[in-house]
Amino acid sequence: MRIDIITIFPEMFEGPFSESIIKRAQNKGLVEIHLHQLRDYTTDKHRKTDDYAFSGGAGMVMMIEPIARCIDALTAERKYDELIYMSPDGDLFDQKMANSYSLKGNLMILCGHYKGIDERIREHLITKEISIGNYVLSGGELAAAVFVDSVVRLIPGVLGDETSALSDSFQNDLISPPVYTRPRAFRGWEVPDILLSGNEKLINDWKLEQSLKRTAERKPGLLKEDNDRKD
Ligand code: ADE
Repeated sequence: MRIDIITIFPEMFEGPFSESIIKRAQNKGLVEIHLHQLRDYTTDKHRKTDDYAFSGGAGMVMMIEPIARCIDALTAERKYDELIYMSPDGDLFDQKMANSYSLKGNLMILCGHYKGIDERIREHLITKEISIGNYVLSGGELAAAVFVDSVVRLIPGVLGDETSALSDSFQNDLISPPVYTRPRAFRGWEVPDILLSGNEKLINDWKLEQSLKRTAERKPGLLKEDNDRKD
């Protein structure tokens, strides 16, 4: 998979993309992440990417030309499955979407700032708007990093058996069961006996029961058929 990210703050991705699983996925050649400095696509000496909104009002708007120039340069090189704009107005991101994006070939992500981007970019160039939650971030970068992290870890081959995504919370619309490690007792707090029983069938039944119980208690919306996740 290849992911191209258009941003005026490429440094914001350095931490999240150079550690742990995302780093391993890149080193294994399972994903290529390319950051594009939007200012490189400006033509004025101040490398300006925003301007005042027509009709006034508070806040600057990201200009159409540098963004269109950057998108054109990238789409001239390859075909993209989706051109995503990270925005609080977008479709609410969830595990189902993460699964489906993990199977794509080329994704482009545009990170916005200020009051937003010129509407004509959304109308004519963007194919998908994604929100990571109903709150406003100061830019799309953190949202893009969250999106990339959750998608990349699902790319086949990224996680080993021991960390398989199949047992993740939400992967089967259930919250994961509790997990424990040594010591067996700490301050009198015991690990459930059943996990030490060695009986695989009983252990699996217990884990499923725990998952169902937790989901019912904490996220009952996940258990509803056709759920549209309100919890
Ligand atoms: N940009 C600003 N806020 C955002 C959000 N909640 N999700 C995605 N992109 C954003």
